Parts: sequence; C-alpha cells; structure tokens
Amino acid sequence: MTSVEHARPAKALVEALRVDVEDALANLIPEQKPESLYAPARYVLSGGGKRLRPVLLLLTAEAFGTTRQQAMPAALAVEVFHNFTLVHDDIMDNADTRRGNPTIHTKWDESTAILSGDYLMGLSYQLLAATPAGNQARMQQVYHRMVQRLCEGQALDKDFETRSDVTVDEYIQMIDGKTAALLEAVFELGGLVGNCDQAAQEKLQLLGQAVGRAFQIQDDLLDITAATAKWGKKIGGDLIEGKKTYLLLRALESDNEVARAFFEKIVAHNGLAEDKIPKAKQLLEENGILNDAKQAVLHHTSIAQDCLQVLGDSEAAATVRWLLDAMQTRLH
Ligand code: IPE
Ligand code: IPE
Ligand code: MG
Ligand code: MG
Ligand code: MG
Repeated sequence: MTSVEHARPAKALVEALRVDVEDALANLIPEQKPESLYAPARYVLSGGGKRLRPVLLLLTAEAFGTTRQQAMPAALAVEVFHNFTLVHDDIMDNADTRRGNPTIHTKWDESTAILSGDYLMGLSYQLLAATPAGNQARMQQVYHRMVQRLCEGQALDKDFETRSDVTVDEYIQMIDGKTAALLEAVFELGGLVGNCDQAAQEKLQLLGQAVGRAFQIQDDLLDITAATAKWGKKIGGDLIEGKKTYLLLRALESDNEVARAFFEKIVAHNGLAEDKIPKAKQLLEENGILNDAKQAVLHHTSIAQDCLQVLGDSEAAATVRWLLDAMQTRLH
C-alpha cells in the first residue's frame, strides 16, 4: 500500500486519539481550592498543544496489543509531565507566550508557576502508578530515569547559554536529555504497557532517541522560520536568550565571515536584540544553515523510520510512520 493510501486513515486515527486525550485531560483536575494552585494547572492542560507524546504512547501500546483504555493513564502521565516541564522551562527561558497564550509566570507569577508545575509533576507520577496494564516496576524505572535525564539536559541547556565553546556533539548530548529522554520513555512505556520484552524495549528507546533528536532540531529551526500565530511562541526567542541551538552552533562554523561574526557577537553578548531577528534569519537562510538544519531533521527522522520495524506490521505502526513524516514537514 502506498503512503498516500495510508495517509487518510492514519490522519483520522491520530485525530481520534488526540480527541480522546484532550477529553481525558479536560476532566483530570476538578475545580477545587486553593484556586491559586489548581486554576493555573488546569489552564496549562487546557491550552492545546499537539498531544504528540500521548498519541505516540497509545499507538505503541496498541502495536503491543494493549487497548486504548488500558494505556490511557500512562499516556496522560507523559502529557502531564511534558506540560510540567513546559511551565518550568518557560521560567528558565524567560518565555512570555506558549501555545499562543501567556505563560503561567506571566499571567500569574513565578511562585505560582513553580508550585503548579510541582503539582503537575506529582500528578503525572500518580497517573503512571494507576496504569492497570504492564509491569509497574519496569515502567517506574523508565519513568524515573527519564526524569533524571531530562533534568540533566535542561541543566546543560542552561549551562551552554554562557559558554562559547559548545560543540555539536555536546548539543546532541544536551537534547538527548532535555527532549529525547521523554520521547524514549513514551515509546518504552507504550511497549511496557503491552509487556514487551527487553530487546523490544531497547529498540523502542532507540526509536525515541531518533524522534527526539529530529523533533528538537526541528523546534530550533521553527524558532526562526515559524509563522507567529500558530507557532504560539515568540519568534527568535532562542537567539534573544542566547540559546546554543543547532542553528547557532552551525552558524558559528560558517565559511561566510560576515555571518560568522554576526553569530559570534550573539555568543559574546549572551543573546540578541529582538529587532535583529530578521537579519539573523536572512543570514541563516543565505548561508545554507536553515537547510543544514532541515537535512539534520531528515537524517534523524530516517533513522527513526528504520527503527519502526519494532512495531511490526500493525495499523498503529503505519500510523506512527505517517505521523513521523507529518512531523518532519510541519511548519509550526
Ligand atoms: C515543546 O514540545 C517542547 C520541546 C520538546 C521542543 P511540543 O512542540 O510537543 O509542545 P506542544 O505540547 O505541542 O505545545
Ligand atoms: C525543550 O526545550 C525541552 C523542554 C521543554 C524540557 P525548549 O526550550 O527548546 O522548548 P520550547 O521551544 O520552549 O518549547
Ligand atoms: Mg528550554
Ligand atoms: Mg523553552
Ligand atoms: Mg525551543
């Protein structure tokens, strides 16, 4: 069957799963007191988002023979955890908007964002522990290792802001923590809900790593190329904050002296003024750096596609394949 023939049912299945996740999230936190804790937590969970992680977990679980119902608590666990990381990440990155809405620390204040984030982290763990299928001990091992690695990645991301000698290898190590660790856990937990064996778990981890790398490089690229409204975050936010993104690191290696000097200045000043973002974009475009990043996304997506054999020949596997293709070409 060609990918075009697959395209329609895959899209419909992804949409159906996303709606299921959205409904479950909407009913997760009741209106209760203190409102200063629960209102921001509800706010962040109802703010939209692609719901990519829970959908991928549900599809993986299905490929390993588990029903949507049995896998749903684990799927919600990863989405709630992801939302917790976003709340704290937006404080760390000085980000005012997320999914087109004010971030919690801007709409309320930092204390509120820290605390509601803490609560979401606990809620996520509660959801994982309430998953009726799979081996809890193995699932918790995956979960806790993921938490540690994600924190390590976020620490490196922050450390790199004030370092001028970050290499692309170090960058990959950093994104393997801050982004890929959770995607690895998504696939591993999906498999473990269906009691997958150790060999399959290892393959699922590699799949998650490749998806995570592609996803983060794409996120770095979209920081400068996305169309504002749907992207929902400030365009150029990474450059403004002096983040060592894939784009910035590649720009520092450019043969073009003007481009290199421009980006070296960003490193020296630990950031860029907002009005210089269009110039940065132009230099990245003209010197093939946006294209480099696109190639890197393609490279890691194709590694991920090769890893998909672990999901067998199921409808779920075909749907994950379609979803990875769609992610790779996304514009926001
Ligand atoms: C944003 O993740 C954080 C990164 C790992 C880059 P998403 O792009 O999946 O965010 P939402 O949930 O769809 O808003
Ligand atoms: C993504 O980092 C990783 C986490 C949020 C843990 P980013 O800082 O690049 O994510 P965005 O761009 O703010 O969504
Ligand atoms: Mg960040
Ligand atoms: Mg951020
Ligand atoms: Mg980003």
